[in-house]
Amino acid sequence: KQAPKIIMVSNRGAYNLQATDSGIQPVPAISGLVSAVEPFLKEKGGVWVAWGGREAPQENSPGVRLPVPQEDPAYTFLEVPLTAGEIKLYYHGFTNGALWPLCHYFLEKCRYNSQEWSTYVRVNAKFADAALMEAREGDTVWVNDYHLALVPAQIRHRKPQLRQFFFWHIPFPHHDLLATLPWAPQILRGLLGTDVLGFHLQSYVDNFLNAVATLLGARVDFEHNVVYWQQRRIHVGAWPMGVDYQAFQRQALNPGTRARAETLRSQLGVEHLALSVERLDYTKGILERLLAWERLLEEVPEWRGRAALVQIAVPSRTAVPAYRRLKEEVEAAVGRINGRFSEGSYRPVHYFWRGLPRQELVAYYLAADVMLVTPLRDGLNLVAKEYVASRRDSSGVLVLSRFAGAAQELKGAVLVNPYDIDGMAMILNTALNMSRAEQEKRMRLLQEKVRRHDIRWWLTCFHQAMMAREEETADVS
Ligand code: UDP
Ligand code: G6P
Repeated sequence: KQAPKIIMVSNRGAYNLQATDSGIQPVPAISGLVSAVEPFLKEKGGVWVAWGGREAPQENSPGVRLPVPQEDPAYTFLEVPLTAGEIKLYYHGFTNGALWPLCHYFLEKCRYNSQEWSTYVRVNAKFADAALMEAREGDTVWVNDYHLALVPAQIRHRKPQLRQFFFWHIPFPHHDLLATLPWAPQILRGLLGTDVLGFHLQSYVDNFLNAVATLLGARVDFEHNVVYWQQRRIHVGAWPMGVDYQAFQRQALNPGTRARAETLRSQLGVEHLALSVERLDYTKGILERLLAWERLLEEVPEWRGRAALVQIAVPSRTAVPAYRRLKEEVEAAVGRINGRFSEGSYRPVHYFWRGLPRQELVAYYLAADVMLVTPLRDGLNLVAKEYVASRRDSSGVLVLSRFAGAAQELKGAVLVNPYDIDGMAMILNTALNMSRAEQEKRMRLLQEKVRRHDIRWWLTCFHQAMMAREEETADVS
């Protein structure tokens, strides 16, 4: 008999698959979900069921099964093939044209379309099938994120005893907003197929509990975060994801990383360096931040020639029109600001449209005096925590949006309202001027939090919730 294993399920896994002359190559994917979940599978082994980020040639093409990482295989990647039509209707359409904007409070960007919805239902069933093919008695299926909200109920229906965990990585909206989605009840019923349901914040938990009470009429114990549904108890919890604090500290100590940080500083050639890193997504507040940077240079001319912003924008969802428009707007703003304030070799904004590997990213974290994490709405935001974890000498300022989930925990950060461009410009001024003593006081506070609530703490919370549920089931039976 095989030992019980974890079957991870998400739309995108840690790799995208690329066909090359020497066969299928896994290319690393970038996201908070990957940063949090992959170290766990690398340590524990198991299977990760995910789309490979490419078009399946035909309706019934088999999925690839690959041991990954290639250099030192630790777990199995199992591809769920999606056709061009499914990618369009399920991925670009329903998940990123309806659920993503809805959960991030961008109602004006939501497009509800019944053909996209029916494809979402069908694709969810494909993922459920793939997970069920892998699952043996005693295994745990761990499903992730808004792409796969129906999978828990689909699995529960076919294998009621299988242990299930679900983590929702983005904000969960208030039920007034959720109710605009014609299929909100189906989404909620789908999620209630799980045993344990995790969110980053208690406010998301509250929104979920209120939604199932209001839109489904489910019985809810608000005090203990429990939903009673179809003779089962579903435990809901707030577990804000953490980062591998020690790994970032080690990376920051690495002589190669430090040398690279020095080189970046001297190449950029300014006294004060601000940094922003994220996927090019309208939720991240990139445009508003650029406007605030421009306002700062208008209002406080002393910063011209002395301060620069490095903006790393990782390409994301480029087939979705809202993302394409944003790219044009961001690039126009960068061009305008550089056109207005460049002088000799000085450029006020350095813009990169690409993703960076971990070592290079940490070199940027080390080079930056001020880290600007100013999303309009973000489930949590790992970049903020990673910056804190990398600053070994406790210098540096974290400017953080009050609408990032991480703001709940990161009390030493300088909080901003990214919708208030003038206010943000003045806070940038304060951040750039902050004394070393004040920086260290704040950074130590932040580091204490990020170190204690690291990735292991997060995984332990989930594990304990699962164990508590097991004991409860044993008591009942
Ligand atoms: N990241 C990366 N390279 C980059 C930019 C980002 O590896 O060039 C990683 C970053 O280290 C972080 C993740 O991508 O772990 C982004 O997670 P976050 O929660 O901040 O945002 P998400 O992309 O999930 O919305
Ligand atoms: C966020 C979501 C993930 C998603 C990632 C990247 O982090 O929570 O589920 O994978 O963005 O987006 P993409 O559309 O490229 O998978």
